[in-house]
Amino acid sequence: MMAAPTPLITVDAATKTYKLRSRSLRRVNMTALDRISLVINRGETVGLVGESGSGKSTLGRAILHLTDLDSGKIVYNGNEIQSLSESEFRPYRRKLQMVFQNPLTSFNPMMTMESALLDSMRLVSELDLNTKRRRVLQLLDQVELSSRFATLYPYEMSGGQLQRAAIARALAPDPDFIFLDEPTAALDMSIRGQIINLLLRLQRETSVSFIFVSHDLRLIRYIADRVLVMYQGQLVESGDKAQIFDHPQHAYTQKLLSATFVGQAERAQARSRTET
Ligand SMILES: Nc1ncnc2c1ncn2[C@@H]1O[C@H](COP(=O)(O)OP(=O)(O)OP(=O)(O)O)[C@@H](O)[C@H]1O
Ligand SMILES: [Mg+2]
Repeated sequence: MMAAPTPLITVDAATKTYKLRSRSLRRVNMTALDRISLVINRGETVGLVGESGSGKSTLGRAILHLTDLDSGKIVYNGNEIQSLSESEFRPYRRKLQMVFQNPLTSFNPMMTMESALLDSMRLVSELDLNTKRRRVLQLLDQVELSSRFATLYPYEMSGGQLQRAAIARALAPDPDFIFLDEPTAALDMSIRGQIINLLLRLQRETSVSFIFVSHDLRLIRYIADRVLVMYQGQLVESGDKAQIFDHPQHAYTQKLLSATFVGQAERAQARSRTET
């Protein structure tokens, strides 16, 4: 029997509105998150889909305490973290990590990979510097980069190598959660599969929970346990992968699916014709 899922992060009615000033100086409100409630369990990978501007990155930034909410709660490991001050949040910061779409701009150009990974461990007080240095090499190995990458600068590395390093940097402080914000979207097709396989391996080997944002529904189907669908700041659908892909309830989800899997039924028919 499978163990009951343990909630790691609970988001309760998270709401975030940006006040924008239009060119006519009229104030307009842009609701990026509209009463979003969800649960992320330990060790699971949750796929997050939704059109551009639907609030996916804002949700990630809110969970990581990089953006304030107007209202709502974020509970991590039983503690409400959304209302904490910057200093109160400090002990939690290392446990909640992010990997961005563009690995080049997410690294400081003046820092070697070793410095970047050490910097990511600066709030890890239980390890001394020598132990952290050894850990840098272990982390590089874990993402299949040789030890020579420790002394390299971002400009000396390819996009795929940098994204591996970004994953190592996110893993460095021993997090419970990583928000992967379209981590393969900026990479060449040939490299994407390698990064996906790396993430799948990390899923098996660690108990880290992932939110994986992608516009690629095929990829989401491949990597996620559960799927969340956002539309204009609202969570319009959530459920097990099979449920979302086989029985989408919301019109927007149905539209997304038919746009991705268009022609699939026809191709399947054509195949069965040629096979018989
Ligand atoms: N700092 C900001 N100031 C004002 N508006 C913002 C800010 N950040 C995001 N927004 C607005 O909030 C909405 C949600 O943006 P968000 O970046 O979360 O969407 P997204 O789902 O991640 O989109 P994409 O798929 O393009 O990355 C958008 O309308 C965006 O313009
Ligand atoms: Mg985004």
